[in-house]
Amino acid sequence: MNPLPPPDDEDTLRPHVFDGIQEYDKRLPNWWLMTLYGAIVYAVGYWGYYEWLRAAPDGAQEVVQAMAKIEATRLASAPTTDDASLWKMSQNPIFVEAGRATFNTTCASCHTDKLTGAIGPNLVDRLWIHGGKPAEIYATVDKGVLAKGMPPWGPVIGAKKAAEVTAYILSYHTEGEPIEVQAAWIPPPPK
Ligand code: HEC
Repeated sequence: MNPLPPPDDEDTLRPHVFDGIQEYDKRLPNWWLMTLYGAIVYAVGYWGYYEWLRAAPDGAQEVVQAMAKIEATRLASAPTTDDASLWKMSQNPIFVEAGRATFNTTCASCHTDKLTGAIGPNLVDRLWIHGGKPAEIYATVDKGVLAKGMPPWGPVIGAKKAAEVTAYILSYHTEGEPIEVQAAWIPPPPK
């Protein structure tokens, strides 16, 4: 049998013996202990940041955001303006936010930033003069109703922004809700 290797100064021999084998009570090296303590501190910080403060989106939210971005890029590269595509855009937060920005700078002066109507009609109720289906709303935005004071916006803001702004209006509506016909919009008296 090999003789025991010489012990470090601080090592003590543990009292038990198994099959003639003995072991030293070795102290764990500092680098090892630091890694352990560091991991504990990190875990507490990580838990606090993600679970307690919820300071950053979790994995599932990040996936949803990334998918919305991909979808927005895809929709914007070829803005199709059929009902199904426009409903889809109206559920995409990136598209809707872009539409909100355009609406507030370009449309809110006549329709108000709450879309409830002033010079131009309310766009959040169920009453529509020119049709409330997505493709009809897009057509009104694109071509306008010049004789009644609604400018044609297609040539001014382009197809992409017109689709975004339509998606923004649709974000206030749900697919399949009843659409009622309104003969004309009577602007509310100025306050
Ligand atoms: C200069 C004022 C004015 C601005 C700016 C304006 N609109 Fe209008 N809009 C009107 C008027 C007036 C009507 C009503 C037309 C009618 O009576 O036929 C209208 C009608 C509409 C309709 C049809 C509503 C219905 O009931 O069928 C939509 C949709 C619409 N506007 C969207 C927009 C969007 C989107 C923008 C911005 C890109 C915009 N409007 C900017 C004045 C405006």
